[in-house]
Amino acid sequence: MIAIIGGTGFGSFLGLTDIISSRIETQYGWTYIERGLFLGQPIIFLPRHGHPPKIPPHSINYQANIQALGDIEVDYIVALNAVGSIDESLGVPSLIIPDQIIDYTHGRLNTFYQADIKHIDFTFPFDSELRQELIRGVQGGVDLKENGVYGCTQGPRLETAAEVRRMRKDGCDVVGMTLMPEASLARELSIPYASICFVVNRGAGIGNDLITFEAINLAIETSSYWISEMLAHVIKSKI
Ligand code: HPA
Repeated sequence: MIAIIGGTGFGSFLGLTDIISSRIETQYGWTYIERGLFLGQPIIFLPRHGHPPKIPPHSINYQANIQALGDIEVDYIVALNAVGSIDESLGVPSLIIPDQIIDYTHGRLNTFYQADIKHIDFTFPFDSELRQELIRGVQGGVDLKENGVYGCTQGPRLETAAEVRRMRKDGCDVVGMTLMPEASLARELSIPYASICFVVNRGAGIGNDLITFEAINLAIETSSYWISEMLAHVIKSKI
């Protein structure tokens, strides 16, 4: 079964029917999930920012979220992540399926191995088969970049222009606050994980526009249709 982790703008999953909501207890704390049917297929939906969405990126209990999905024995996780663009060729809105991560976060509980010495391989942080399936689900007219580097910042504030310039030199294509440690925790539990990032603004200092939450909401609305089509394709092909 597939799990979708919804981010900013995806506090609920459009098209999900027969929803059963539950609070799941794990050894790392509790989280909220919805079981439901999408296109007649059972899926799990986990709104990362809570229900209603109130949990900021640095306060999300990533361990409880991923452990809950592990306990349910989901087969795949598709994460939805709002991002700012650093690569200037990325428009607003557009989609990117990242293939690499640079982690700039600090102080987050980022491993299940607190008492064991265990170093997971994370050379390629995303599941390549799942990434390819997402890309195959893209319909005509969608502005998509098929790979790129996600720089994960701590937040909750947005970046300074100098920070974004440094991230560009580091090789980042987009910036967001929620992919880590979610992706590495999923790898620790061996759950294949991939992300659909949707560009909702240009990163700080890229272009001339100031970042406004009105513009972000407009971009979310447009990209949500594209994302639904991709998810429909993946859910049909993976179940
Ligand atoms: N920076 C960090 N996180 C984000 C941004 C951004 O510009 N846009 C959406 N999430």
